[in-house]
Amino acid sequence: MKRYHVTTFGCQMNEHDSERMKGMLESLGYEQTAEQADADVILFNTCSIRETADSRFVAHLGHAKRVKREKPSTIIGVGGCWAQSLKDEVFTQFPFVDVAFGPGQVHKLTEFLTSDSLTAQGYFEFEGFAGDLPDKRTREHQGWVQISVGCNCNCSYCIVPQTRGREASRPFAGVVAECERLAGEGVREVTLLGQNVNAYGRDLRPDRATFAQLLHAVDAVEGIERIRYTSPHPKDMKEDVILAHAELASVCEHIHLPLQSGSSRILKAMRRTYDQVRYLDRVALIREHVPDCALTTDIIVGFPGETEEDFQMTLDVCEEVGYDSAFTFVFSPRRGTEAALITEGIVPHEVKVERMQRLVEVVQRRAHERAQRFVGRSVEVLVEGTSRTDPSRLRGRTRHNKTVNFAGCGVPGELVMVDVERATSQTLAGAESLLARAGR
Ligand code: 5AD
Ligand code: SF4
Repeated sequence: MKRYHVTTFGCQMNEHDSERMKGMLESLGYEQTAEQADADVILFNTCSIRETADSRFVAHLGHAKRVKREKPSTIIGVGGCWAQSLKDEVFTQFPFVDVAFGPGQVHKLTEFLTSDSLTAQGYFEFEGFAGDLPDKRTREHQGWVQISVGCNCNCSYCIVPQTRGREASRPFAGVVAECERLAGEGVREVTLLGQNVNAYGRDLRPDRATFAQLLHAVDAVEGIERIRYTSPHPKDMKEDVILAHAELASVCEHIHLPLQSGSSRILKAMRRTYDQVRYLDRVALIREHVPDCALTTDIIVGFPGETEEDFQMTLDVCEEVGYDSAFTFVFSPRRGTEAALITEGIVPHEVKVERMQRLVEVVQRRAHERAQRFVGRSVEVLVEGTSRTDPSRLRGRTRHNKTVNFAGCGVPGELVMVDVERATSQTLAGAESLLARAGR
């Protein structure tokens, strides 16, 4: 039997695309191997969001090249955003690559592997939503469901519109049918995926739909106990979506709302189309309807032109909102983006590093403070497996998306109640609530 090995970089969309690559390979009769050296097909699903993402991947590619030198029949494939951003240049820079494809062309892998072609092939078209593909889920009880491809935003720092093309929503009925299929296979939690999920449905013809309507329809699917989504854009965060968190039993009390900067001036330069006031107004509306909602975010430090005052505004927003956690990034110029062409106000590396340290300090302190609200509470946890640090304990996730390590006897996929005893900025610790268990 032929074997494959897939290495994934980047976001959840890429994780999911990799599951689909694996699903396709298995339907062609391949089986997964843990070692690149044993594989007949070595695939990389790449990311290009920051320079570090690029360079990490290139080091991995060197290893695959050595494998191929030993065993020349090995097929090396490179998919994802980095491949899309270089297109055919991939083959000139890395002549040992056999097949390269963008994120919208995952399905072309079958075509390549079943053809007799001995020449290198590249697939980089944008086709909109490419239809259902088989997938091989990494987690039995949690599933990703892609609801749109591409992105119509114009964020000046971001390479994604170039690598994933124009936005196209997946038909409503197809999304719901996939959720039903997943529920039938034992999935209890779905994460709806898109570059800008709350813009969903505006392009659907003849029946336009909204993201809130989609949440209602997925909530109605029997067996799906939890719905998450990523990522929404603050500009499209409408009240109907926020209300869905309050009204629909399965929509989790967690919203990832990317801030990027707390300075309205920098937000304008980033072309985010909201300012600080509008962002905080969205947060206030969330807190009004879902008072206990966990909020997480993405922040970029050191965007060109960011002054100490601008940065201070980012710190102020973090203090005020009190995020449950935040992903913080140093600005990285990406080829082909508007921000990469800015020559004025470049923030020196030392200043970026110093600001990042101050930002992380505020984010962690606030996250630690916020997490204390769970201590003494009994929270619903979806069991995922054993604790990574202590195999005698279990690990799971709360509706607020907090990881919990706890003593208990739940099995993966089960929803249990856990009494929270301690909380750090990142994780909760506790014990399964035996009373609640007996009562169910
Ligand atoms: N530099 C640094 N961070 C970036 N992000 C996107 N593009 C860049 C860039 N050029 C961050 C944003 C986005 C997250 C996925 O990555 O914060 O929300
Ligand atoms: Fe995901 Fe963006 Fe990286 Fe592409 S570039 S894999 S969309 S994070």
